[in-house]
Amino acid sequence: MEQYVIKGGNPLVGEVVIGGAKNAALAILAAAIMTDETVVIDNLPDVRDINVMLQAIQGIGAMVERVDRHTVKINGSHIKDVNIEYDYIKKIRASYYLLGALLGKYKKACVALPGGCNIGSRPIDQHIKGFKALGAEVSIEHGQIATEAEELVGNHIYLDVVSVGATINIIMVAALAKGNTIIENAAKEPHVVDIANFLNSMGANIKGAGTDVIRIKGVERLHKTEYSIIPDQIEAGTFMFAAAATKGDVTVKNVIPKHLEATTAKLLEIGCEIEEYDDAVRVVASGPLQHTHVKTLPYPGYPTDMQPQIAVTLGLSEGTSIVTESIFENRFKYVDELARMGGNIKVEGNTAIISGVEKYTGARVSAPDLRAGAALVIAGLAAEGITVVDDIVYIQRGYEAFEEKLRGLGAKIERVNSEEEITKFTLKVS
Ligand code: UD1
Repeated sequence: MEQYVIKGGNPLVGEVVIGGAKNAALAILAAAIMTDETVVIDNLPDVRDINVMLQAIQGIGAMVERVDRHTVKINGSHIKDVNIEYDYIKKIRASYYLLGALLGKYKKACVALPGGCNIGSRPIDQHIKGFKALGAEVSIEHGQIATEAEELVGNHIYLDVVSVGATINIIMVAALAKGNTIIENAAKEPHVVDIANFLNSMGANIKGAGTDVIRIKGVERLHKTEYSIIPDQIEAGTFMFAAAATKGDVTVKNVIPKHLEATTAKLLEIGCEIEEYDDAVRVVASGPLQHTHVKTLPYPGYPTDMQPQIAVTLGLSEGTSIVTESIFENRFKYVDELARMGGNIKVEGNTAIISGVEKYTGARVSAPDLRAGAALVIAGLAAEGITVVDDIVYIQRGYEAFEEKLRGLGAKIERVNSEEEITKFTLKVS
């Protein structure tokens, strides 16, 4: 099992280039099989979840050609199978996008039901509500979710909760349904807009993505396209908080500053300086960090995927901060790990009360999930001494070349695979 070993205490300084958005890419890869023509997708992040999705698409007969590390060609004309039951696909929640893509194109799909998740129970009732409203039957048997329709017909759908996944799945099915669909209370996240733009570039007719009412006029078929995925706002935000927690000066490049506004606002509140450029944001943390309050909300609110990173940073701020998690119920698992590094956080229900400490001290900790894992790396970078982060397989799900990018900013971090390598690193840096 690989680990990160970190010698903390260095301010991060320099420039880092952000890759394509993992969560947009997962949906776009699924949607790419909705045409029989060849689709070229660029700015694809080279991370574990994406590679699992590519394998799943290949597994049902689609042609997948990796042109280079960040570009892929997909042709879905030879798909023979609408059943996706591989064990590995259960591990990525976004496997459910294949339901929408296959149902839209073949009017039939059967996908292994994504299992429980480290950040809490994640129902898919809104996805099912959407499929049914468009004319499909849905059943759950033997750990699989099966859906089939004689005809898909547009409808007026009101989502009871703002769900990124349900919004995207309904868009995909409605894109090839007969007539018009209106989705109300739709998610507004940048990746919802990206998938709509992608499908429109394939000939779909989707309007209003990015607002809470999306209107889709079904078309008969979709055609080839070449598309570049938007930058990853969560990867960018993670580096921005790494800059703040280490009292550094980091410019994140290849970003859309508008997508980072919630993060930027919080960094300003805690005393960082921010410079915005057309496609870059610079974060400078020269003085002491101040406490603040934050509540996770659907976009444009503060993202739940950035909650552990801000909490770890607030743990080093002056005074008491309150972080409220309103999207997922089990997203404070890193708190016990951080306590081992000297963090002082008390969790009550969906609220974390953070009493700032002067410093963290290096310790051995485990990544409980993807974003919490990245946050523990941030803590390690800021901490005095050596931190070892176990279970980094979670972090690799969503961060490409994480340690290399951090080393480019002056961090002392290595990916290791044994106690010997940890000792070697410790001797090298001490
Ligand atoms: C996506 C992101 C994830 C992010 C989350 C919220 C991907 C692959 N994942 O997940 O990283 O943390 O958005 O920004 O893009 N819900 C229901 N019923 C449903 C669907 C959702 O009750 O049918 C609830 C969920 O339990 C949660 C809330 O709605 O409380 C938001 O979930 P949703 O936006 O669907 O998250 P995902 O699309 O799974």
